[in-house]
Amino acid sequence: MKLISKRLVLQTVMLILVCAATGRAEDTAGPSNPDLQAKLQYCKTCHGLSGQGYRGSFPMPRLAGQQPEYLENQLQAFIERRRTNPVMFNVAHVLSPSMLTALATHFKELNPKPLGGAPRELVAAGKKIYEEGVPGVVEDGARFLASKKIAFTGADTTAYEKVPSLDLPCHVILLMENGIQIMEMVNLEELSREAVYTFLFIALPLKIKGGVGSPIRPIAIA
Ligand code: HEC
Repeated sequence: MKLISKRLVLQTVMLILVCAATGRAEDTAGPSNPDLQAKLQYCKTCHGLSGQGYRGSFPMPRLAGQQPEYLENQLQAFIERRRTNPVMFNVAHVLSPSMLTALATHFKELNPKPLGGAPRELVAAGKKIYEEGVPGVVEDGARFLASKKIAFTGADTTAYEKVPSLDLPCHVILLMENGIQIMEMVNLEELSREAVYTFLFIALPLKIKGGVGSPIRPIAIA
């Protein structure tokens, strides 16, 4: 009788040890491969067999090649409703933390071809920009504008000043030394087409507290 109870105790202890060990294994090693594959198959019914995503009337984000930290953060955001999407909330809120990490890591390794259908004529323009840079304001121009005590300046190019440029001197002269705001990528087509040189200008930024920059809605009233 004594012997049996000792064995029982031993068996119980061993059982507990085994449980503890498998519990820990699941935490660190992540979900089993069949579980992961089954889940991936589900993700890929919407996001595409190689996570390439889709364009069109019901677009689907591309997950392939994306940073795991980014994907994990998005999934967590769907769960916490920081990002609201009913479909992805339903998909994500059932995922265990280790499954979430495993899924996010899987998509990083995929590298399908980019989706087709982009305008081909932009390829040549892109090559030219890559090789020759973009025209824009240079240092002398920035000093001239600052001497006129202007409040704002803008251009329709991506960087406002001439690129390539290692240290963006115009940004330093205008923003840092003179507190003059710079607008980039302003759509000036209409103003130049109508030859409008004088107008009331209104800039509507986003409500960002403590920020130093923002996308704006620029309005010209002539
Ligand atoms: C029923 C279709 C469907 C399924 C299944 C699905 N998704 Fe999604 N997923 C979407 C849609 C639609 C969006 C875009 C949501 C939005 O824009 O708010 C999205 C967005 C995402 C995003 C954000 C991507 C980004 O760059 O913004 C991630 C990450 C994601 N899904 C991961 C997954 C994973 C992982 C699975 C599998 C567990 C999965 N999805 C299954 C439809 C689906």
